[in-house]
Amino acid sequence: MQFQERLKSFVLRKGRLTANQKEALSNFKDKYLIDDNFELDTLRTNRVIALDIGFGSGETTIHLARSSPEITVLGAEVYLSGIGTVLSKASLEGLENIKILHGDVLPFLEDRVPDEFFDLVVMLYPDPWPKRKHHKRRLIKEDFLSLIHQKLKKGSIFYFKTDWEHYYQETQKAVSKNLWQEIKRENLPYEIANFPATSFERKAQKANRLSNELILKKLSK
Ligand SMILES: C[S@@+](CC[C@H](N)C(=O)[O-])C[C@H]1O[C@@H](n2cnc3c(N)ncnc32)[C@H](O)[C@@H]1O
Repeated sequence: MQFQERLKSFVLRKGRLTANQKEALSNFKDKYLIDDNFELDTLRTNRVIALDIGFGSGETTIHLARSSPEITVLGAEVYLSGIGTVLSKASLEGLENIKILHGDVLPFLEDRVPDEFFDLVVMLYPDPWPKRKHHKRRLIKEDFLSLIHQKLKKGSIFYFKTDWEHYYQETQKAVSKNLWQEIKRENLPYEIANFPATSFERKAQKANRLSNELILKKLSK
């Protein structure tokens, strides 16, 4: 199935922006947001490039950029409020190693990202679409995993975490053992093994939902 034929993994609702988010968006949009003309190759000057898919309020994006100046973090999000929050924090902290894609990560990966580009792809608590009739909206399936595999450098990491047991199991089933090796968190660099709790992680904890993670290392080309 072509990705373009897929149902979107998100439904855009009108969310209100805080004054702080509005101000950050207006002041720092040009500095941090990438537009259609942005040359991704310019990011290669940094040694390590990470992608944070659906960063929500941006805890992971900010954490990675703050703790690892040698990483360039590319965050992808469709919600402007989350982007406003990240821009506000990034500018306050003077972070220079963040870029933001405002939009759907799927066509971006397919059409704009060169193969073997990322050293790390993070996807924490993607929208679980819990009802069976909505499962087709979930981002992670076999074809998506292949796309992530294609865009990662050899030996690089895809880090996925969810509090929806069914999504976790389905993702496990979609993992090709020829392409990926599952690894343990303890084997990751400190700042990746110790992500801060995200908003959705805290929600899961409050609701007593157990979170499961899958950390995959790209094996071959
Ligand atoms: C459940 S939230 C999790 C946010 C954050 N990672 C966390 O753990 O708190 C999932 C996020 O993914 C974003 N999202 C969903 N589909 C997306 C897509 N195709 N491209 C970019 N962002 C997407 C949504 O807007 C939402 O903010």
